[in-house]
Amino acid sequence: MRELRVDLGDRSYPIFIQSGLLANTDLLASYLSKQILIVTNETVAPLYGEGLRVALATRSDLTVELLALPDGESYKNLDTLSLIFDRLLELRFNRNATLLALGGGVVGDMCGFAAACYQRGVNFVQVPTTVLSQVDSSVGGKTGVNHPLGKNMIGAFYQPQAVLIDLDVLDSLPSRELSAGLAEVIKYGLIYDESFFEWLEVNMPKLIALDKTALEYAIEESCAIKARVVAQDEREGGLRAILNLGHTFGHAIEAHQGYGKWLHGEAVAVGMLMALDLSVRLGWIERAVLVRARALNEAANLPVDGPSNMSPDDYLGYMAVDKKVLDKKLRLVLLSELGKALVTEDFDHDKLLACLNSFCTEV
Ligand code: NAD
Ligand code: GLY
Repeated sequence: MRELRVDLGDRSYPIFIQSGLLANTDLLASYLSKQILIVTNETVAPLYGEGLRVALATRSDLTVELLALPDGESYKNLDTLSLIFDRLLELRFNRNATLLALGGGVVGDMCGFAAACYQRGVNFVQVPTTVLSQVDSSVGGKTGVNHPLGKNMIGAFYQPQAVLIDLDVLDSLPSRELSAGLAEVIKYGLIYDESFFEWLEVNMPKLIALDKTALEYAIEESCAIKARVVAQDEREGGLRAILNLGHTFGHAIEAHQGYGKWLHGEAVAVGMLMALDLSVRLGWIERAVLVRARALNEAANLPVDGPSNMSPDDYLGYMAVDKKVLDKKLRLVLLSELGKALVTEDFDHDKLLACLNSFCTEV
């Protein structure tokens, strides 16, 4: 078993990575209290939720309940969040309850936000079941829901007590979701670690083929980078924003198309190419980096072009409500070299327009 740590003083926590970890109820139970609500969704519940509920319930000292939310990004909202509070109150769960998030990033973000709010904060454990949630959303404590006017606009920083990553659950993941998660893996190479990017160029076919040794390495490297960044800047005062490479463009695509049409990772994949394209136009990186990133996206079965029905103004409209906008100034994550990102508002707006235009040729 691989074990990493997110170092945040008295809110530090471990990340465990192993095939078959879901069956290790001793390890899981050591992070749970006596009242447990497994929060999952209608897809994951029959695959892993019911089994986990039964396995934990056989431990005589635990009360274990399961709530299956509707599945999809379009349900990541305040109405669905209320279903979690409704169930907790119906069950009369108290401040000693544990919320266990079993699912992808949608479930994890909502469950974490519910844990932050219920009785002003209860115990929270992440068991992520998509690549995206295993390498990104389950680590670092960002929780929340979408608002019709913006993605992830309502939420809280709330760290889990532990993250348990079982590689075997990825066997049932649809291939499109696998690829979407790999976009965030590519991101770590681009922003932080050139040698990891090179490793991905060689090993992407293994990841796509669900080779567990390759997946374990890629997930561990990704979590290690994320843990290092979060430990330095938990609440995104500065450095942490580099984790959003491509997200400002990507969120515009997601919001314009309607949440759920483009997967988050797919939108981020194209958004990263846009950020790299702008970095090339600014003269900060060689075009060769963009060409290699495009090829890696293709190897991961990710899109390399934006939606054909978006104009530069569409992008700019959504980008203006990005959380990184400060004093009405748009800030973007760009690359200064392969493996090194920076957050800046200091770029030529005409070059941004040229970049957007080049991704909107069909409009
Ligand atoms: P998701 O949660 O919608 O899961 C994708 C799909 O896979 C869903 O249909 C789900 O039911 C299904 N699924 C999950 N596990 C499965 C499994 N093992 N087998 C079969 N099907 C399975 O999407 P996601 O990509 O995991 O997460 C995207 C969300 O994460 C977005 O809302 C995004 O905003 C958020 N996010 C948050 C952070 C953060 O730091 N908190 C970071 C990145 C993304
Ligand atoms: N996914 C970006 C972050 O956690 O900060």
